[in-house]
Amino acid sequence: MTSMTGRHESTSNRPMTNPASFEAMWADLAGVGRSTCTAGYRRFALTPEDVQLREWFEQEAARRALDLIVDRAGNQWAWWGDPDSGPGVATGSHLDSVPDGGAFDGPLGVVSAFAAIDLLLTQEFTPARPIGVACFSDEEGARFGVPCSGSRLLTGALDPDSARALTDLDGTSYADAMAWAGRTPHLLGADPEAMARIGTFVELHVEQGRTLIELGAPVGVASEIWPHGRYRFDFTGRADHAGSTLMSDRADPMLTYAVTALAANKQARTLDARATFGRIIVTPNGINAVPSEITAWLDARAESPATLEALLKVVTRQAAERAGRDGTKLKVSVESWSDVVRFDVPLRDQLAAVLRGAPVVPSAAGHDAGVLSAAGIPTAMLFVRNPTGISHSPEEFAELGDCAAGVRGLADVLRELAG
Ligand code: GLV
Ligand code: MN
Ligand code: MN
Repeated sequence: MTSMTGRHESTSNRPMTNPASFEAMWADLAGVGRSTCTAGYRRFALTPEDVQLREWFEQEAARRALDLIVDRAGNQWAWWGDPDSGPGVATGSHLDSVPDGGAFDGPLGVVSAFAAIDLLLTQEFTPARPIGVACFSDEEGARFGVPCSGSRLLTGALDPDSARALTDLDGTSYADAMAWAGRTPHLLGADPEAMARIGTFVELHVEQGRTLIELGAPVGVASEIWPHGRYRFDFTGRADHAGSTLMSDRADPMLTYAVTALAANKQARTLDARATFGRIIVTPNGINAVPSEITAWLDARAESPATLEALLKVVTRQAAERAGRDGTKLKVSVESWSDVVRFDVPLRDQLAAVLRGAPVVPSAAGHDAGVLSAAGIPTAMLFVRNPTGISHSPEEFAELGDCAAGVRGLADVLRELAG
């Protein structure tokens, strides 16, 4: 494995012209971290699956004689052309997944990036600026809770001490997991040198919605990302016997949680926002015991920070009121926050023109592109049509023909930006 900030030797600065096709790369990744029970992907940061995916990325870089760099935050970069002659044009995405995620969220952007380079090679294109392919570490934050920890660390938006101290549900720290994976936790941190190489960033991603299917367009350009946050709700009550404890004698945190989940759903519907309790831990989790504690995580998003704030205020107030009636205690903490992102308008319009009038669509999903944009890098996103709009599920899908349109579109964009 490549060490932090380490570099592979390039045999030449010119990529070879016999790379694997999109379909071959897709097939190589298909089995990695796939559950035989659910057919969903479980590709979490700093696990054996993650190590395997990073090795795959190294091999694809080496296959094309791209210059591999791992930044201080653990993100992998494969550069065509001298990355320090830049600033260059970077593309790519992530290879990790949510629990039982789909095949496309993340990998489509990385595979398409390599395939777009392959296409440019067959067109005998010579970039005037370096072109980089990124594989961001831990975009989903499925294991340690904070999304986009790789890009947030890279840009300085996440403090390295806070990152090292994050723990997974088994109590393993980010730092220990890094050490397990052969990475160097003390090097973790912002990487201005890596940032300086990125003149422009374009992330291709499967659409997580149905706008493109409704518009009949295979590829679109992103306008913005909704603000979103992750909030931890700790409800504490008193464990007791499920049979012998009178209903009136209980301090049952499950009830407080249940009412809070309904309140969040109602507020999101009222405000045209989103609110999801997707993970809860019940302690002690016995069938015949009133629980002592419920820990639940709320993922909330809205079109504007003000709407999101309003949603949180009402949900927290209603949860506290209910806790008062249930005789339980409530603690709410913010685990991550991502402000609204409005992508660079001239770049967005330039890309829409290169893609012959591709529609401009907003995203209610978070992306590393949003983190880079917030750090001041001119950034854009391309979305590839998703026939059902389903994502974060094994049912997530994109037609091969639309993926090919995405690769062609990305190649045209790279040609325009790096030509
Ligand atoms: C990432 O996919 C997110 O929006 O949670
Ligand atoms: Mn995702
Ligand atoms: Mn993604």
